[in-house]
Order: sequence, then C-alpha cells, then structure tokens
Amino acid sequence: MAAMSSLFGPITPFAGDPILSLNEAYGHDPRQHKVNLSIGIYTDENGNIPVLGSVKQAVDRLEFGARPYLPMEGFLGYRTATQSLLFGADHDAVTGGRIATVQTIGGTGAVGIAADFLNTHRPGRTMFVSDPSWENHHGLFQRAGFTTKTFPWWDSANRTSCREQTVEAIRDLPTGSIVVLQPVCHNPTGIDLTREQQDTVTQLCINNDHIVLFDVAYQGFGEGIDEDADWIRRCASAGMTFMVANSYSKNLSLYGERCGALSVVCPSAEEAALVLGQLKFAIRRSYSNAPMSGGTITAEVLNSPDLRPLWETEVGVMRDRMKQMRSTLAASIASVDASLDTSFLTTQRGMFSFTGLTAEAVRSMRDEDGVYLIESGRMCVSGLNESNVEAVAVSLTRALQTLN
Ligand code: LMR
Repeated sequence: MAAMSSLFGPITPFAGDPILSLNEAYGHDPRQHKVNLSIGIYTDENGNIPVLGSVKQAVDRLEFGARPYLPMEGFLGYRTATQSLLFGADHDAVTGGRIATVQTIGGTGAVGIAADFLNTHRPGRTMFVSDPSWENHHGLFQRAGFTTKTFPWWDSANRTSCREQTVEAIRDLPTGSIVVLQPVCHNPTGIDLTREQQDTVTQLCINNDHIVLFDVAYQGFGEGIDEDADWIRRCASAGMTFMVANSYSKNLSLYGERCGALSVVCPSAEEAALVLGQLKFAIRRSYSNAPMSGGTITAEVLNSPDLRPLWETEVGVMRDRMKQMRSTLAASIASVDASLDTSFLTTQRGMFSFTGLTAEAVRSMRDEDGVYLIESGRMCVSGLNESNVEAVAVSLTRALQTLN
C-alpha cells in the first residue's frame, strides 16, 4: 500500500524562541553550578521565585467557588485597580471615564490585542519599536499584519546608550506611525529616556499623529510604583490618545497566572466606551475572555487597604535587591579586572542589563561556565545572588575582556 502523504510534512522546524527556548535549555542543563540570567523572572536571594506575602494572604482570603466565564473585558475589580495603578486613582482620565481597560492574558496578550485592534481599525500603518527591544514586539505586530521597523536605542559600536539618536529618529518617523515604547526599565537594555527626552517624544507623537503603545512590564522595579508611571500619567494629562499594555507577572510574581491588561486613553468617555466595545470584540475572537484566578488574586492585593501597602513594600524589596546585586557584581568584576568599565551595570535599571557582549561571548559563558544570558547580550540581574555573583563576575570578566 502506498504511504499516505502527510498533511504537515513540509512544515519547517521551529527555530526556537530566544528567551523561552533558552530557559528550557537551562532547565535541561545538568550542571549544579549553572546560573540563569536569561529569562525575565525575579528570583530572591535563595534563587527562588518568591510567593509574595500580599499574594499569599490574598489567596488565603479568597474562596474560589463556581467558575463562570468572566466577561469579555475581564473582571471589573481588576480593571479599575489597573487604571488606578497606572494613572493614579484621582487622575481626571480615570475619574472622567476616558480610559477603556480590558484584562488580557499577560502583557503579551495585551500587546497582541492592541495589535489586533489596530490592524482592524488603523490598518496599513508601520509599527516602529526600539532596536533592540523585547523580541516578541515584532512577532505580535507581524502576526496581526503589520510591517515592523526600528529606531535606535543602543549604540552597539560604542556599547552605550544613544538617547539623543533615539529622539531624533522618532522625530523623523512618518506621520501616523505606530510607536511602541517602554516607559521604564527598558527590556533588554535597562536604559530609559530622561524626563526631558520623554516630553519631547510625547510632543512629537502628538504633533505627528503617531499611535503610541506603551509596554509597562516592570512598574515598581525602576524607582517606585508611582514614579515609574510618571511618563504615561503626563501623556494622559497632555490630552494624548494612546494605549498602555501592562503586566503583573514580575511585580506580583504571578508569571504563570498570565495577568495583564490593555488600556486605551481616549479624549472622551463616549469614545472610551466605543473603544471598549471593539476591544471586547477583539478578545472574543482571540481567547473569548480571561481566566479567573490570577485576576481575582491581583484585584484582591491591589484593592485591599492592608494588602496594597504590603505589596508596595515587597516590590521595594525586589527593586532594592536588584540594585544591590548590580553594585555587588560591578565591585566583584572590578576586583578581578579593575580596567573594565562596568558602569553599565549601575546606570541601567530594572531587571535587565545590556552587556554589549557578542553572541559568541555569551555562548562561551554558557558552554564553559554554565552562566546563561540571552544571545543579544541581555543579562537578567535578578538571577544574581550572594551565592552565585562571584562566579558570574569571573565569567563575565572573561567575556568582557574579549571585547577590548
Ligand atoms: C523576558 O523578557 O524574559 C520575559 O518578559 C519573558 C518573556 O515572555 O519573554
């Protein structure tokens, strides 16, 4: 009998994801001394993903009974808490009902729904994002049907930030572009624009009718909950119409619960209601409605008068530990080779540092020392702790020396 032809035979193999597939490879690495500085997951001083006290208490309080579908837009308490967290409860965009917020499946889902919404309602535009950026920004917008392009965020020749070129490049974007920006703790570089540069970019985007999508995945990991939201609050105050995708994976340590939201700031409550309707439609055609547990837990933490301050303290502990590990690593490298410039570690902020290492140097850290960074040269500083920082310093010193 002739062999049946396979329907999926000609399919090309998946090349792997630069972050998630590497994290899988780390899991399979049998070496005891391996160190994971690849994926953006916060681990504590013992190398564990923390269960925050505020989250634990919220879970203890909640009684999960029947599990109906959530509405297409998600859980109301979660959506209102998200608006207050991002914009401030008293912001007139919030009190005036000018923001349409939907619960999404993680920050990834928020960016994906934003891209789907834009492709339906503002098709044919070009999406611009920083080079480098979180790799999936391109993927999500391309999947929705957009052409994606970049503006510079990192000077690879000099291995440094290039904020002025960033602003100039945004100045030159075609009118009506879609501009994806990370307001704080930029992934993968840890380099953020100055306040003055932010204001210039805001004005450029307003004047040139760009549609801005802010991706906020690390609120609280830069300077503080409110401080990290300052740019988007100023944009809302400036009357700009824009979108914000946010995630609770990192700051509530709820990675697997996939808690995110998409907010669209509109000029009026009437427009926000229309936008909300179309976001619901986009969600219905994508995943129908968000899952219950993570959103319920998040809302309990953010809305409880006693859990909210506890959570803010816990975010502060994570933030301070990451800052401390940056300094410790810089000092450890200096003690091995004082000639190396490690200022990138302490001037960049948030979960990530961009080392400027070549893919080859990154591979050699992984193969020889079991120290895992993303091949772009991104290092997740929250994977550092007192037990592994010396070994990482030795490995990173060797890698940095190859660049000189
Ligand atoms: C990362 O950048 O490592 C995280 O945001 C995880 C992811 O989904 O890529």
